[in-house]
Amino acid sequence: MRRAAIIGWGDYTPPAVLTNDDLASVIDTNDEWITSRSGIKERRISHVSNAAMATAAARRALAAAGLAPDGIDAIIVATCTADRAVPSVAAYVQRALGSNAAATMDLNAACSGFVYGLSVANGLIAAGSIDRALIIGSERLSSFIDLTDRSTAVLFGDGAGAVVVEATEGQEGVLAANLHSDGELTEILTIRGGGTERLFDETIPAKVDMEGREVFRHAVTKMGEAAAATIAAAGLELEDVDVLIPHQANIRIIDATAKRLRVNPERVYANIHAYGNTSAASIPIALSEALDQGVVTPGSNVVFVAFGGGLTWGAAVVRWGERVTRIATVDSGVPGTEATGLELLAARARGLGV
Ligand code: ACO
Repeated sequence: MRRAAIIGWGDYTPPAVLTNDDLASVIDTNDEWITSRSGIKERRISHVSNAAMATAAARRALAAAGLAPDGIDAIIVATCTADRAVPSVAAYVQRALGSNAAATMDLNAACSGFVYGLSVANGLIAAGSIDRALIIGSERLSSFIDLTDRSTAVLFGDGAGAVVVEATEGQEGVLAANLHSDGELTEILTIRGGGTERLFDETIPAKVDMEGREVFRHAVTKMGEAAAATIAAAGLELEDVDVLIPHQANIRIIDATAKRLRVNPERVYANIHAYGNTSAASIPIALSEALDQGVVTPGSNVVFVAFGGGLTWGAAVVRWGERVTRIATVDSGVPGTEATGLELLAARARGLGV
């Protein structure tokens, strides 16, 4: 059966770090609260656009696949923090890469975006419409945090991750995927001031609004159900799961999901301590790191599971191929910065800088 296999991977995480202590110096919070409630120790704040981060991750994924940009038929950027309403982040990535024949689109399923994007690309490949795609999760959520709202300001960070998928008739690739949404739950997790609604009511703040406990409750149930159903649809048993890479929203949600699935914690990949919640970027960043650390081995059954604003949720099961190393590595191509995360946020608050 024709399906998508992951043949390249890469990530870009901005160099400017924002620690829990940095946050505690400007808002009423502390390292102990943030660590015990979320597992987060620090996050990254971008000094460049969403498109620049997405392009950097894409370059690295293409190098890992040993492909030139013109070998790509479609670029899908999963994001809820696009630089502009039009054109898409994907169009900017295409311009920067020079992959001019590729179809481009952004996909907004909030934090579930990467799983959605992988499933869409797999569908296009299975239908014979395309042979290769870049799927990028890239987010600049720091643009939508409000330092006066401590319940959300401590949770989010910026970054990008990408994979290259290619059509295969082999044993490897996307074995199954399931996507879901419940529009009744739109208001428990939203960025109201992130779209045109604000043009009609400029008092709407451009910030993440979240009913944390409600999101938490739904996340644990829905991620568990979606992962279990997708593993079964792939013809696998729970004990066949070699690596579980959940969306990195909260270490307690990750642990509870793994427990529900009875997956050995050693098989669960988590890096939330270093990046916080990077929404659609969290799974491809985690995948890229898991590969570099030798966590994914030839033939591994890898499960991705996510939930996010919408509420959306979904899971995908991928059997890895033979190659678990990059064919080549490249520089991010992004200029560095000496600024700290706190300095970048302070500059933005004064209307300066990106
Ligand atoms: N520092 C110190 N105290 C805080 C902070 C903070 N940063 N934030 C909240 N508190 C206080 C609250 O005011 C509250 O105090 P009170 O009891 O005096 O009223 C207390 O801590 C407990 O707050 P809760 O909200 O009940 O804390 P909870 O244990 O639920 O943890 C959290 C909060 C971390 C937000 C948790 O609910 C969670 O992770 N929810 C899911 C979040 C999530 O996954 N979001 C995904 C977003 S993805 C997307 O699509 C963008």
